[in-house]
Order: sequence, then C-alpha cells, then structure tokens
Amino acid sequence: MNDDARQARLLERTRATLEAAHRTGVSPWEGRRYDYHCPSPRSYPFQWFWDSCFHAIALTHIDVDLAKAELHSLIQGARADGFMPHIIFWRPEHGVMESQTLRLSTPYLSASIQPPVIALAIERVYRASGDETFLAETLPVAAAFFRWLRDNRDPDGDGLIAVVQPDESGVDASPKYDPLLDYPRDNNDLVKAIDGIYAQYEPLGNDDARLIAADVFVVEDVLVNSIYAQGLQVLARLTKDEAEAAEYSAWASRVLNALMEKCYDPARGLFLDLLRTSEERTEVNTISALFPLIIEGLDPTVADRLVQDHLRNPDEYALPYPVPSVAANAPGFNPDHPRGFIWRGPTWINTNWFLAHALHARGYDDDARRIVESTRALVDTEGFRECYNPYTGEGQNASEFGWTSLVVDLPL
Ligand code: GLC
Repeated sequence: MNDDARQARLLERTRATLEAAHRTGVSPWEGRRYDYHCPSPRSYPFQWFWDSCFHAIALTHIDVDLAKAELHSLIQGARADGFMPHIIFWRPEHGVMESQTLRLSTPYLSASIQPPVIALAIERVYRASGDETFLAETLPVAAAFFRWLRDNRDPDGDGLIAVVQPDESGVDASPKYDPLLDYPRDNNDLVKAIDGIYAQYEPLGNDDARLIAADVFVVEDVLVNSIYAQGLQVLARLTKDEAEAAEYSAWASRVLNALMEKCYDPARGLFLDLLRTSEERTEVNTISALFPLIIEGLDPTVADRLVQDHLRNPDEYALPYPVPSVAANAPGFNPDHPRGFIWRGPTWINTNWFLAHALHARGYDDDARRIVESTRALVDTEGFRECYNPYTGEGQNASEFGWTSLVVDLPL
C-alpha cells in the first residue's frame, strides 16, 4: 500500500473509531447538553480532559463542528474560579467508576487536573474553522484555567505548577513517582498507595494549598510544566490584547527558566521531575526528560543533547517502535502493560504526536519521520490501541482508543 492509500485508510478508521465513541445527550444533572467522544467505549465512557483536547485536534481532520462541540462540552466542566476537572461524568450511571480511585469535587466532576492541553486544542480548532465566536467563547475559559493553576498549584512561586496525585499528570503509574508511592510492584500496590494518599487528603477537603502543604504527593512534573509553558505561548499568540499577550509570553519564559534552573541536569543532559516540596530530583529517566522540546525558546544546545544523547540512544528511547514512555535502561521500565500499571515503558500515540511536531519544528526531520513512520505502522497493523509494546509493536490495553486518532495529525 502506498503512503496516500495508507493515510486514507487511517483517516477512515479514525472516523469509525471516533464515531463509536461519540456521546450526545442531556445530563441527568442540571440538564446540560453534551456532545463529546469518550476515550474508549468499554473502558472509559466519560469525558476526560486531555483526551478530549486530543480528540478535538483529530476531529479537525474529520468534522470541525464536532471538534468545536467537543471543546464546548469540555468547558462546561469549568468552575467559576477557573478550575477544570479531569473527568466530567455526564451520565454517572455508567458505573465503571466504582473500580477507580478518584477524588470528586461534585458527584459529576472530579477534583483533579490533567495537563493543560486546552489552549493548543482551541488554537487548532480555531485555525481549522476560522470561527471567531468559538474563539471568543472558549479562550477566556482556558485563560482562567491557566490563572487557576498559577494561583493554586504554585505556592512556592517558582513558576512551576505541582500535581498532587499521580493521575493528574496523565502518566499515572510512571516509575518517576515510585519513591512517593512505596515502590509499587503491581497495580494492587499502586491502588493501595493512592488510597493512602486520598485518606490523608480526606480531612483537608479540596483545598489545594492544604493538599500541597501536607506534602503527601507533590511533584513539579516536567511533562505537565512543558505543556503548561507551551499553552501559555499559545495564549500569547491567540490573545488580541497586547498587554495580556505580553503577560503570557513573560509567564511562559518564567516556566521555561524554572525548568532550566531546577529540572535540567547538565551532567546527564536531561530534565528530571521534582519530588516533594523539598524538590528532590527523581532519578528516573522517563519521557518527561524530553518534553521541554515542545517549548519554543528552549536553548538549541540543550535540545540537541536531548536528541543526540537520549532520543537516538538505543539503550534509552531508540527502540524498534519509539518513543517508549520510560528509557529502556531506567529502573522500573516495563515494556508490557500489566492491567492498570501503565506508563512504565509502552509507547503512546499522544506523546509521539507531541514529540514528532516538536522535532519537526526544530528541524530534526529525520528523527520526526522515524517516529511518524513507526506510529503509522503501529496503528495500521495493530489498530487504535491505548499503547504499544516498544519492542514488538503489540497493541496493549484498551481498544478503539480515542487519542490514538492523533495518527492523522502527524507532521511530514
Ligand atoms: C488513563 C491514562 C490517562 C487518560 C485516561 C483516559 O488513565 O493514563 O492519561 O486520560 O486513561 O483515557
């Protein structure tokens, strides 16, 4: 099959995958209209925050009105103070949640965040539609969320925001968090550790300042902060008010400078997440290490080391089906996906999508092409799986997984 035929086939399968995940209706609470795509009909029936942002981006290739509806539904979860939840339970009776550990802010909204991909998703949908009304309705909600993050998740004022539980980063069981979770050996251990965190949070309510002060699970996560900085750069591009745009640019630079000062390890030539309020660097080399590549203005010599020493290193990230979520020689690396014990080695399409675009934008086209080619091959042969074994390419965990549709939005 030639490239065009394969691309057409991937587009057709994306359409079918997203169609099966399409959910519309009126919520039994507050009678709100929803129109979104769930991450996976069987495993994840609700609206997840960063998944929806990725779905909206993929939908720009299929039906831009659906992309707009996805984000319109998502912003309905925003609280008056700016907070946006990582899950909206449009129809809580779907019941899958009993098997999950969660903190809720209402019976219908979680109390957790996910990486703020929303600014980028709004930009992509706006560019595809040219719809100024859409932009005017959605951008202020995204901007308010970024302000909420700054005001509630950066109590030490260093520019970096903190996550207060593992799944807030979207890379839930990453071994970079192991020291804060009693070094879990499997998903049961992990759930026990998370339950322990939530039990300690119980008397603190949903007061973020108190959760951070309790220092039970506080991580200034490089992947989250890279997406935060990138989002601020997007806000700067989209905001028509010049003073406000300048504020976002300066704010993004502060985040990038803090990543350089506190998370960059010049000896190893990579970025490491900061654990606890005492900001101890994690030892573990995970895909976080490479994520500052997505931030405009990252020092090119730092970027070059990330590419040369790590991305191209066959002991770390240059596996047959890149890019694994953890460096192959890092403690805790596991190329398989034992149920629920995720983000410990397999390759995911959303992180490939971020890195392929970043590498292309920086002129590393051969590296970008390698990721793009292998991503297309994975999805073409294995289908729209949640993640893939980086050695064999075998698809793992949920099937008909929504954000794998980013395969139709790769560069080159
Ligand atoms: C898993 C992923 C998380 C995602 C969710 C729904 O928990 O780790 O990032 O948002 O599934 O797809």
